[in-house]
Order: sequence, then C-alpha cells, then structure tokens
Amino acid sequence: MDKTVLLTGANGFLGSHLVPELVKNNFRVLCLLRSQKGLSAHDRLRKALESVCHGGEDLSEIMSCVDAVEGSIEREDFGLDERKLDALAQQVDHVLHCAAMTTFLPHLSKEQWKANVQGTDHIARFVLRCSPRDGLHYVSTAYVAGDRKDLVYEDELDKGQGFLSGYEKSKFHAEKLLRQYQKEHNLKITTYRPGIIVGDSESGRTVLFNGVYLFVRFFQVAKQSVDDTRQGKVVIPVRCLGNPEVTKNFVHINYVVNTIARLFMLPKAHGATYHITHDNPPKLGELGDVMQEVLNMEGMEFVEEEAFRESPATELETILMEQIGVYAPYLRSEPSFDKGNIKKVLSEDAIPQCPPMDHQALEKLFCYAIESNWGRKRST
Ligand SMILES: NC(=O)c1ccc[n+]([C@@H]2O[C@H](COP(=O)([O-])OP(=O)(O)OC[C@H]3O[C@@H](n4cnc5c(N)ncnc54)[C@H](OP(=O)(O)O)[C@@H]3O)[C@@H](O)[C@H]2O)c1
Repeated sequence: MDKTVLLTGANGFLGSHLVPELVKNNFRVLCLLRSQKGLSAHDRLRKALESVCHGGEDLSEIMSCVDAVEGSIEREDFGLDERKLDALAQQVDHVLHCAAMTTFLPHLSKEQWKANVQGTDHIARFVLRCSPRDGLHYVSTAYVAGDRKDLVYEDELDKGQGFLSGYEKSKFHAEKLLRQYQKEHNLKITTYRPGIIVGDSESGRTVLFNGVYLFVRFFQVAKQSVDDTRQGKVVIPVRCLGNPEVTKNFVHINYVVNTIARLFMLPKAHGATYHITHDNPPKLGELGDVMQEVLNMEGMEFVEEEAFRESPATELETILMEQIGVYAPYLRSEPSFDKGNIKKVLSEDAIPQCPPMDHQALEKLFCYAIESNWGRKRST
C-alpha cells in the first residue's frame, strides 16, 4: 500500500463509495467516524461498505486496507486523547474531509454549524498539525452558489448570494473558512464541488433517497389511493409549483467518485476548486415526464404561482408542497457551473465525463429506487 488517507464521512453515501476507490488505488484508509445506537465505529463502517460492495464480494479485501478511528469532527481533538491524536497525525499522508450534516432545513441550525463549519475548522487544525504535503482535500457542493442564477466560476465564492437552505449556507461558510486558512497559514486547499449526486450510471444503485427520489416516492404512494385511469394510466391531477425549464444538475455517483479520485491523485491539481457537475443537466419538465412514465401515471404538471391564485391548492397539492418542503425553492431556478479548472490540469481526453443524464438514465435511477423498494431489497 502506498499512502494513508484520513477520510471523514466514510459511512455516508459519497464516503462509502470513495473508500473502495481509494483502496483500489493502493491507499490505506483511516476512517474517522462516530459510534452510534450501540454500533461501534468499526461496525458502522463495515455495514456501510457492505451495502456498497453489493453482496460483499470485495468486502474482506477492502476491510483489510481500512481502519475505523472512533471520533467526532465536532470535537477539536475528535474526542481522542493527546497520545492517540499524535499517533494519528504521524500516520496520515493525506486528509480527505467528506463528512457533513446534510439535512435540509430552511435555516442554518446550531447543529449544522457545529458539524459543517466548526467540524471543518477542526479538520483544518488537524491538517496543520500533520502537515501533509498536499494540504486538505475538502468535499463541498456546487450549491455554495446559493440563489445565483448566472454562470458560476470555480474561483468565486462570496458574490453576495442568498441561500436556499441552511445546508448551503453552512457549506459556504466552511469554504470561506478554508480560504482564510489558505491565506493565513499557506494551507493548500483542494475543493471538490459536486452537483446533486444520484445513483450509479450502470445500475441506478444508490443508498440515499432524498431530493428527487422523495418526489417519485410521493407519487408512488399517492397512486395507491387513486382509481381514476385513462388508457391504462392512473390519473393524478397535481400541480406543482416549479419551472419546467429549470435544470437540475444531477451527477452519477460513479462519475463523482472517479473525478475526485483522479484529482486527488494528481499533485498538479491540488490547491484549486473543481465543479463536478453535468455539462448537460436535465430539465425539471423532463424529470416529471420520466417519473410519470415510470409510475405509469399522468396529470402532474409544473406551474407558475399564478395558477394557484386562480385556483387554490387541492388537498393532495398541499400535502405534496409540505412533503417537498425545503426542496421547493430548488424547483424555481438553478445557476450553471463553469468547469475551467479541470481543463487546466487535464488534457481534453483525460477529463472524466459524466454519462448522459437523459431519459434513459433518469428511468434507470427511478426504476432502481422502486424495484429496490427504496433500498430495502439490498440484493437488487
Ligand atoms: N449527496 C449529494 O447530493 C451531495 C452533493 C454535493 C455535495 N455533497 C457533499 O458530499 C459530502 C458527503 O455527503 P453524502 O451525500 O455522502 O451525505 P451523507 O450520506 O449524509 O453522509 C454524511 C457523512 O458525514 C458524517 N457526519 C455528519 N456529521 C458528523 C459529525 N458531527 N462527526 C463525524 N461525522 C459526521 C456522517 O456520519 P454519521 O452517520 O455519524 O452522521 C456521514 O458519514 C458532504 O460533504 C456533502 O456536503 C453531497
């Protein structure tokens, strides 16, 4: 094994996919994670990797290159005593900070600040202590752009934008803090900003069913209580506040993992910010069409606010808006994302490309969610 990486968030959606990729590239992975609900950090890690390894064929090989370190990024010393912290710092060659409280709430809560901003501060301090040559690798989000509607460049951060959720705001402040570390401590920071991560491009597999998946699930459940059919399709007349022309920057998990790994292993790429976004994202209208096709239904449409002034929301429409809740503003606008920085460090043919996020790809994602019973049937 070449080098040791300290990875946070290894039991989460993205982190659990990064572990096998790092192992495949000969890294030993030390995973800093919490114990929870009677499960040790090691057991939680094993469980997360088991589901990613799809039945476990590579699991023992991966586990032999991975160690769990029990700790929380919310504590400055991760809750480790001085001796353990020192031993950890001695072992680490690279730090990849992927952990974050990803809950979507309209406002920034104290808990989210603690996990995402203070947690990042603690990681940065640890990086100063072990001073890896490549500094800190940080997983952010393209949505630090907040409510911007224009073209966002990777080197930009604070453009006076507002935020659609507390999560976005916390990630913005974490990036801001790291730029301060870069300035004051000359710390190299490599920032990865993915779009909205969805399932695998080949299989549709995912372990996280939030965002668009909640939308599909709502209609799957609603369908069961409707008996109106037209030409074999269930009719659910529901208007949803949103602009069908707005894009949603979905990216497949395998593309995100592949791109992060590629940049992580390329020293000349370090110290910059990268949008890991789709060049041709689908529009909301297309997402709605594919969802209706997959569910064999019709009647859902995206409408402007005006439509509800003319005719108030029905009970089902009100329930939908309540359930979508914090995601509702995301149906109104989206910026576009420049990807100039990756072009500076990789030749055109070496730049990882996200597979098309077209009708067929969306169908695969939604079918996986339904056929796997929202992740309950692990073997699907
Ligand atoms: N999913 C997306 O669409 C997306 C898009 C763009 C960027 N990202 C970024 O990608 C990263 C990973 O997201 P994800 O989708 O994998 O989210 P996830 O499945 O919710 O995983 C989050 C991870 O962070 C850990 N974590 C949270 N609070 C922690 C704390 N206080 N101490 C230690 N660990 C803590 C969680 O561990 P516990 O189980 O112990 O809480 C979990 O391992 C995040 O930085 C997120 O902002 C995600």
